[in-house]
Amino acid sequence: MKCVIAAGGLGTRLQNFRDNRSTKILLEVNGTPMINHQIKQLNNWGFENFVIITNPEFSSIIQDVVLGSFSNFDIGFSIQDEPKGISHALQQAENLVKNEKLLFVLGDNFFENNPFKGFDLNEFQSGAFIFTKIVENPQEFGVAEMDHDGNVISIEEKPDMPKSNDAVVGAYMFDESVFEKISILQPSKRGEYEITDLCNLYVNEKNCKNFSIDGWWIDAGTPERIIELEQKLG
Ligand code: G1P
Repeated sequence: MKCVIAAGGLGTRLQNFRDNRSTKILLEVNGTPMINHQIKQLNNWGFENFVIITNPEFSSIIQDVVLGSFSNFDIGFSIQDEPKGISHALQQAENLVKNEKLLFVLGDNFFENNPFKGFDLNEFQSGAFIFTKIVENPQEFGVAEMDHDGNVISIEEKPDMPKSNDAVVGAYMFDESVFEKISILQPSKRGEYEITDLCNLYVNEKNCKNFSIDGWWIDAGTPERIIELEQKLG
């Protein structure tokens, strides 16, 4: 299965952290650029085929950094010309993903354990799978509500009044209909094509399932979380 990595965010909350003038995904975490940690993590989970979505400004340097370390993997690159949201980032992979199921990962999300542990990928026939983690600050994330069988009944993006404490982490599995679905999305109030809206199209079809993950999860978007990540990775 192909794995698409969103690596285009500029990481405004990390500008100037440790004199960072470039992009979040190139920030060194324990001496290694974040994108290379991400590829290693995904490879540990069993993935070897990647499509990396970058922003125009840092596209060639990201390619050099990645290909300099992982010449043995099959890695394609695509540019997101404008920061129009996470679903829009995924859309940029369309030409490199040929009518197949995919794993979509946000480049700054790191996990203690493989979410696919004990999971047969062949069981994934259609629809979407999301992964959640119970947190104390659900307002900062996508928040999912599930029925007793783990079927998702709603997802809201950073709600003021969360319906649960289940934060949607940055790893999603989508079936072949994903690009068709993205093409009908409308921008949200903040003008972005939201990942939550994409997932909700699967929820409306009653075809979105949740798996709760165990172990730590870090969305490394702030200086504090980068430091925490460095400690966890050791
Ligand atoms: C994004 C998604 C959100 C998800 C989070 C996971 O938010 O929009 O639904 O819970 O990633 O890291 P962001 O971190 O880009 O604000």
